[in-house]
Amino acid sequence: MSTRPASSTSNIIFTVEPGGALNGRLRVPGDKSISHRSIMLGSLAEGTTQISGFLEGEDSLATLKAFRQMGVEIEGPHRGRVTIHGVGMHGLKAPESPLDLGNSGTSMRLLSGLLAGQKFQCVLTGDESLSSRPMRRVTEPLLEMGASIGTTENGTAPLQIPGNQTLHSFHYTMDVASAQVKSCLLLAGMYAEGRTCVTEPAPTRDHTERMLGGFGYPVLRDDATVCIEGGGKLIATNVEVPADISSAAFFMVGASIAKGSDIVLEHVGTNPTRTGVINILQQMGADLTLENERVVSGEPVADIRVRSAALKGIRIPEDQVPLAIDEFPVLFVAAACAEGETVLTGARELRVKESDRIQAMADGLKILGVDARPTEDGMVIQGLGSEGLLGSGQVESHGDHRIAMAFAMAALRATGPITIDNCANVNTSFPDFVGLASRTGLHIKSKT
Ligand code: S3P
Repeated sequence: MSTRPASSTSNIIFTVEPGGALNGRLRVPGDKSISHRSIMLGSLAEGTTQISGFLEGEDSLATLKAFRQMGVEIEGPHRGRVTIHGVGMHGLKAPESPLDLGNSGTSMRLLSGLLAGQKFQCVLTGDESLSSRPMRRVTEPLLEMGASIGTTENGTAPLQIPGNQTLHSFHYTMDVASAQVKSCLLLAGMYAEGRTCVTEPAPTRDHTERMLGGFGYPVLRDDATVCIEGGGKLIATNVEVPADISSAAFFMVGASIAKGSDIVLEHVGTNPTRTGVINILQQMGADLTLENERVVSGEPVADIRVRSAALKGIRIPEDQVPLAIDEFPVLFVAAACAEGETVLTGARELRVKESDRIQAMADGLKILGVDARPTEDGMVIQGLGSEGLLGSGQVESHGDHRIAMAFAMAALRATGPITIDNCANVNTSFPDFVGLASRTGLHIKSKT
């Protein structure tokens, strides 16, 4: 099994030479959200769960390691295969040391709910970025359920989970559309007395609900409200994790903006709560078709063909924001290459991701000669048009995997090389991005 650290420390610099086109068939690594959930539910299930297509990135490995620390026997990952010997709903053991979740917000927010219902106490820690992200959005509703979780004065990690608390039935109406908050409360709800319900202001990814159903734990949905009854159990099952649409998005944009491109992204998860990037790119004029649509382990999957196209700027519909929440760094690159203005609003959440993605992208795009104006909750970008080229230069990723990969794709339409600093965290979601991207036609090199 890989024993990579939970978060990367050494500096990795990407240098991407300008031009080129993307061609061929490729399968990007497994879906990060589904990989996390498969470890969590497999560990709490009765019986043995086999996972294939598991993302061997640092974020999902941090979740896997946390469950090993709580006494779960997990074999692998080996080429995406993981075998979990489930311990049942009440079989986790107290970890001997704090659970270090590295850069992974999903691990921390989902585990805070799942662990709030355990008999033992534990502490959740993370790297510098994760330790600055808002955690009251989970600790406050958990407190209302009866779990008092300690944070720093700023409402950040480390999280102190006392355990041995009685959770009771609860209906929470979220003010931000967050799948992490919804999932946290549903996982806590499995341990609560009675029914836990969450109402979302807009649809967010529903992998937790789907996978709970797959493990035989009923979840009730009525419009924007999802409910779970406490005291049930999970039965082991097999999970095939599709390729991550959030990783595929870099290639969708790269192939769209680089003339002469024609790629097929294989076996990509196309859950409608995740396909904002497809909808937005299609509205911008991208040539993107879904082929061979099917359902695998309860999740829709397709092969996605993308050919280069002249993109046009649009006003991004706000209802697409939660459905494309992780894809905006690379969508900003698409907007920079489009004809006319692109306006994003209603995306304040981008400021509290692994970095402030509005500021980080606006700063980097400006270095590349693009008129990109950050706003409080979005960005206004004047595109260079289908014949326009971005400049070259050195940009900062702020240790954010998706900022690094977005600027790498920008080089396909630049006049000179783009150097991207601080790229080690690309390993959190996309191990071997450099290898796969260069085999597909991007002139990228990585050095430490
Ligand atoms: C995730 C939910 C989203 C997303 C994150 C993964 C999940 O976060 O940005 O990368 O797996 O539930 P929010 O719930 O904060 O929007």
